[in-house]
Amino acid sequence: MRLVFATAELSPVATVGGLAAASAGLVSELRRQGVDVDVVMPDYGGIALADPVSFDLDVPSWAGPASVTVGDHPVCGRLHLVDVPGMARPHPYLQPSGEGWPDNDARFFAFARAVAAFVERVRPDVVHLNDWHTGAALAALTDGPPSVLSIHNLAYQGHASVGWLDVLGPRAQHYEWWGGTNSLSGAIALADAVVAVSPNYVHEILTPAGGFGLHDALTQRGAALRGILNGIDTEVWDPAADPHLASPFDLDRIDARRANRSALLDRLEFPDDVVPLAAVVTRLTPQKGIDLLEPLIPVLDELPVRLALLGSGDADLAGRLHVAASNHSASFAFIEGYDETLSHLMFAGSDLFVMPSRFEPCGLTQMQAMRYGSIPVVTAVGGLVDTVPDVDAHPRSGRGIVARRAESVDLLAALFRASRRLGDRRRRATIQRRGMAVDWSWKQPAREYLGLYRELVAHG
Ligand code: ADP
Ligand code: GLC
Repeated sequence: MRLVFATAELSPVATVGGLAAASAGLVSELRRQGVDVDVVMPDYGGIALADPVSFDLDVPSWAGPASVTVGDHPVCGRLHLVDVPGMARPHPYLQPSGEGWPDNDARFFAFARAVAAFVERVRPDVVHLNDWHTGAALAALTDGPPSVLSIHNLAYQGHASVGWLDVLGPRAQHYEWWGGTNSLSGAIALADAVVAVSPNYVHEILTPAGGFGLHDALTQRGAALRGILNGIDTEVWDPAADPHLASPFDLDRIDARRANRSALLDRLEFPDDVVPLAAVVTRLTPQKGIDLLEPLIPVLDELPVRLALLGSGDADLAGRLHVAASNHSASFAFIEGYDETLSHLMFAGSDLFVMPSRFEPCGLTQMQAMRYGSIPVVTAVGGLVDTVPDVDAHPRSGRGIVARRAESVDLLAALFRASRRLGDRRRRATIQRRGMAVDWSWKQPAREYLGLYRELVAHG
């Protein structure tokens, strides 16, 4: 089976959100399962490959000149880096001000066109696209192989002006959207299979509330739409062999976890006592609902629970969180930034892991938390529903605390319930062990994707 896998992000060479980790984790497991994967991603600049070989791609003038450099990366293996005009930038999507690059439509439409040219050249058995950045490739592929589109986040669709419909390719009319061009809606219409990154997200995106305007387009795809839950890379996320931790641990050595808690409390300048420590590791965007936690910060002392938040993104929210941390330094700590090392320690050293998401297509952090023995407190949305059964609703299998709605009052109730559950040490250990014992790896998801590729080839 030869697969072309096209993505705008890949850990660790281009990481903005979970798309990077999901792409890297799925590709390496597919390779382990014997699939010959050509990973095609933008050349943002500064990605060094061993034994690089370059060649030009045959694209129309608006998308060129386009070239591919293929070579070996020490962590990612064989990579195909696509260069098109304007692609090399210090950040894949954002200017230093935090605004998107004004030519993101042109950059990623050109990238998608180059992906189509690459597919025409290598003729794989299947092409697998991810999110809007790659969606326009199908406009140009009239006689392409079977195609899969994974939707990691319906909130980002690649809206652009109507003029793009004239150039994207012979099937561009499928991308027309309310007088403009929509990269994701066209790919949803044209892909042979559409995969949402969790089964529960499938249900949500078929509703007007969760579909971001695309629920009808998705409904029309019927059985071509399915959910496959993401995994996490259990080699990167292995508490028994994690170089970022103060003390390695696993299910058989769970006591060794305590040293990580002490190290984390020390780093956060909190006292090393029994007050439960809740952690958050996140992008700061409205999706993640961090603003819903703001009214709770002044009352944390009453719970009792301490909260530590590591996050980067929205500058206004970050500013407010800094102020809250200085006003409530005994119970709230805010570390601004994207810090991989600290994130691992936060998963390994916290008692609770909080995700107040308004929507969450899958979510990787709750799985990382459970693997590292931190009990999740989450809202009942997207993949959080698939991965975190509530301990009270499911006394024998519960793994966390689920807030009914993404509202501050429900989150307060959930934190209160969590701090009470943690008081019972035996119950807490049982819940913790359940989360750690689950196989969160990409093994099963990759099998499902491979099964899907085979179905498409068989019916192709
Ligand atoms: P999303 O893609 O919506 O941001 P996910 O939960 O799918 O959410 O994936 C986020 C990924 O990025 C996880 O691997 C998480 O550990 C990592 N991450 C998010 N924010 C930070 C941060 N501030 N510092 C370090 N890692 C982070
Ligand atoms: C998106 C979603 C997140 C998901 C990730 C990987 O960034 O916001 O929920 O886990 O993609 O699929």
